[in-house]
Amino acid sequence: MKIAVAGTGYVGLVTGVALANIGHSVICVDVDESKISMLSNGVSPIFEDGLEDLMKKNKDRIVYTTDYKMAYKNAEVIFVGVGTPERHDGSANLDYVQKVCEQIAEYVENDCVVVIKSTVPIGTNDKLEEYLNNNKKLGVRISVASNPEFLAQGTAIKDTLHASRIVVGTEDKRANIVMREIYKTLTAEPYNVPYLSMNRRSAEMVKYASNDFLALKISYINEVANLCETIGANIDDVTNGMGFDGRIGSKFLNAGIGYGGSCFPKDTKALHWFSRENNAELKTVKSTIEVNAKQKLRLFDKLKKDCENIAGLKVAILGASFKPGTDDLREAPSIDIINALSDYDLDIVVYDPVSIAKLKDIFGDRIKYSKSISKALSGSDVCIITTEWPQIVNYKLNDYKKYMNTPNIYDGRNCYSIDEAKKAKIYYNSIGRPAIGSYLK
Ligand code: UGA
Repeated sequence: MKIAVAGTGYVGLVTGVALANIGHSVICVDVDESKISMLSNGVSPIFEDGLEDLMKKNKDRIVYTTDYKMAYKNAEVIFVGVGTPERHDGSANLDYVQKVCEQIAEYVENDCVVVIKSTVPIGTNDKLEEYLNNNKKLGVRISVASNPEFLAQGTAIKDTLHASRIVVGTEDKRANIVMREIYKTLTAEPYNVPYLSMNRRSAEMVKYASNDFLALKISYINEVANLCETIGANIDDVTNGMGFDGRIGSKFLNAGIGYGGSCFPKDTKALHWFSRENNAELKTVKSTIEVNAKQKLRLFDKLKKDCENIAGLKVAILGASFKPGTDDLREAPSIDIINALSDYDLDIVVYDPVSIAKLKDIFGDRIKYSKSISKALSGSDVCIITTEWPQIVNYKLNDYKKYMNTPNIYDGRNCYSIDEAKKAKIYYNSIGRPAIGSYLK
């Protein structure tokens, strides 16, 4: 099928490349000329494992352009994957989605299905269809389908080609036939992805309800972990014991210093805002947001408790991105920690394997940067682990002793076992587990 994809961010680009990979002819369109020129040269503007290889493999089926007139004119299907960032009040900003729909209405010349992949508040698809029908060219039929995206950064290709499910919201028979046709390769052998058809509002809700449930699971386990610390229990054993119950499951039960990224923080706030607007406030989501904000500073609070006067310390921060496998710093706990430490006269050095360039854009020369763990640790008084990169998880505890001035380690991602920490004879304070040793002055 002839498909146009609006937006070449995570959702748009991965969708476009995946659709080309299952045989469709795809035009990816974006307003950002520098992104389009990179893409045309086979370079991905985002750091995502396997994406450039897939771009290369399907290069004959994908065109990248800034010319949306050309992209939309004869498209049978237009996927919309532009951003819906957070507004000050927590609601989703739909300006980019609206702008794309204005261009679609202006330029589409044949019947087409507009597929909204961007995460939008419940009821938005209905409004967009109404707008398109009131503004399209005469004689053209446009219907809108909701098709939320469930990919996670770092595993985006696998999450798209081997998706847990394809959710399609439309009340229009023709649109449903078109959507089934688009995804027929993925719903058949060997992929066998389940295809769930429902109304548009339900599809929009599946996306928010899924992300907010996962965020809630994380905030819940983080609160349980904090309680474990005060009562002498170990969160590893507790989650292990819980995970055997198939109703709970062992995934997304890793306690830590909170969730970040471009999705959970934005989607929890958007759904909370939306639920209040509709007089049905989701109090569990409200608590999820509050718990997460506090958890991001958990290690900073621990350090302040251990060391009354933190001024003058040399602090090494290991990991900056919101999770391993990405250079994305949006809502990363490391940013909150660096900001909190910056109120004091401290020497801060940050290690991250891929996000140093982005970090420099935020903090400039206010902090130091290192692409080597050992160099970052060298001469430091305190180390704070914020991202569980394999390079950090595999780094030997004895080497902290070797390079640090005083091996005081605060581990926000529980990268090491308590037994290892005991053997290393360091001060090791993690999440939901007993602290090992005492703070070293
Ligand atoms: C998330 C969802 O997992 C995807 O299903 C969804 O499609 C995507 O948002 C989206 O809406 O586009 P992503 O933001 O890439 O994907 O990252 P996750 O892997 O879900 O991690 C989010 C945060 O939760 C990270 O900061 C991670 O460290 C944290 N986390 C995750 C925990 O603290 N504990 C866990 O057990 C799991």
